[in-house]
Amino acid sequence: MEKQLIKISVKAGKTDVVKAKGDVLAVGVFDDGKLAGDAMSLDKALGGWMGKIIKIGDFKGKAKTDYCVYGDGRIGAKRVLMVGLGAKDKADTDCIRKAAEQAAAKTVSLEGSSLVCAFFNCGKKFDVKKASQAVAEGAFLGGYKYDEFMTDKENKRPGRLSVTVANGDNSATNKGATIGLGQQLARTLVVRPANIMYPSQLAAEARKMAKSVAGLTCRVMTEKQLADKKMGGILAVGGGSAKPPRLIELKYSPAKIKKDTPHIALIGKAITFDSGGISIKPSANMQDMKMDMGGGGAVIGAMQAIARLKLPVKVTGIVCSAENMPDGTSYRPGDIVKTYSGKTVEIQNTDAEGRMCLCDGIYYAKKDLKADIIIDAATLTGACVVALGKYKAGLMSNDDGLVKQLMSASVASGEALWHLPCGDEYTQEMKSEIADLKNIGSRWGGACTAGSFLREFAGEEVKWAHLDIAGPGMYDPAVKSGSGSRGFAVRVFTEFVAQTAEK
Ligand code: BES
Ligand code: ZN
Ligand code: ZN
Repeated sequence: MEKQLIKISVKAGKTDVVKAKGDVLAVGVFDDGKLAGDAMSLDKALGGWMGKIIKIGDFKGKAKTDYCVYGDGRIGAKRVLMVGLGAKDKADTDCIRKAAEQAAAKTVSLEGSSLVCAFFNCGKKFDVKKASQAVAEGAFLGGYKYDEFMTDKENKRPGRLSVTVANGDNSATNKGATIGLGQQLARTLVVRPANIMYPSQLAAEARKMAKSVAGLTCRVMTEKQLADKKMGGILAVGGGSAKPPRLIELKYSPAKIKKDTPHIALIGKAITFDSGGISIKPSANMQDMKMDMGGGGAVIGAMQAIARLKLPVKVTGIVCSAENMPDGTSYRPGDIVKTYSGKTVEIQNTDAEGRMCLCDGIYYAKKDLKADIIIDAATLTGACVVALGKYKAGLMSNDDGLVKQLMSASVASGEALWHLPCGDEYTQEMKSEIADLKNIGSRWGGACTAGSFLREFAGEEVKWAHLDIAGPGMYDPAVKSGSGSRGFAVRVFTEFVAQTAEK
């Protein structure tokens, strides 16, 4: 990496907001426009300025809005940032996460390096543990800037940001910071351009990460090893690239695990560039396809967090990485590919490459690892973006209990999932006349046919779920061009494993 990220540190502590020092002191205000708790104390110290700004209508407490008032020596902090929390009755932990993200982003844009988040004494009761974790996660989201290739002159931002969670819980804050760091790692891996971040480089990053975290080990299968193992799907996809494919395995196996705790396999699609291959994509926005590795990035980021949190669950991360390129050595439409499972697939579109890689990863988790639960995440289909937009990922599964558990992790983590169907008649569409399966279905329900294809490799005996993160995995509202990465799925993966540990 050319340059480090903004180094963020987060701590919780008893805080008197009027005296607290910092470049920015953030407080929450609901859209009823009433100053309560900490905001009220600050308003008093500031001679009523906050209230006047609300009264005149310049700030209304709406979500995603904020307003800066200067401390002017009357309080410890240089500025008070009023952050809109939206409707009081709808406010949840995620609203706190978003407020912290906004406050951190604002602090960075002001070139400040210290932020106090005072969100808990705001006129509504929050679970302090959950909210402290959310503030830390939000600070890591908002304090993230991908600028490793920007020269220093252009790069206006502080080198570090220290965040205080006023009157927060210490261990929950640390947990949030660990998850936040995992999410930042995922974001960097995903947005890094494809000339720098190709399969062997991604493997090197995973290896480096595993070395720095106690309890994690990394094994990488090279193209030769993939060939020996007969992983025909991932080999076919990687065949057209000068950068050979890799299967990255991150193992976390803690010594103390409760009996009957399931072994979880997390599988990620990491196509470091998806040109479409011989079925080449149109050139408009093709650059976004350097981020066709959101699933793989999330697996690596989540494995870092899970191991650092020492969650008492055996978890294996599998990242299927290849570059999908057109070349004389590429796989072609019409080819029949023998996958690792032994099932044959007729290729009808080389752009439906993600499923060709994941099917080998899923079967590996089932057959070799004998995982009890398999969850994959992939920027798999444009159809899922058409169906759900940028904000929610599609969730497909062969087990309703697993769907319930993932939905609960989704709510707690603030990463939205939406249950979609798979199997049944969708699978019928994936049957080929000359092979076991073909790699595309009809025009309709593309997210569901893709999910149903993967389900064929998981089978029905093992619990399996698939997250199609094509929308939220390639979207960052902070990036003006509209694309980017928020490391989607790091939080829901980590939360799912944490909830499994608590059972
Ligand atoms: N990586 C793409 C899916 C994608 C598209 C993600 C747009 C994010 C935004 C995937 O490999 C792909 O190209 N899928 C095809 C499947 C089709 C050929 C059946 C698609 O969605 O068009
Ligand atoms: Zn594709
Ligand atoms: Zn793709």
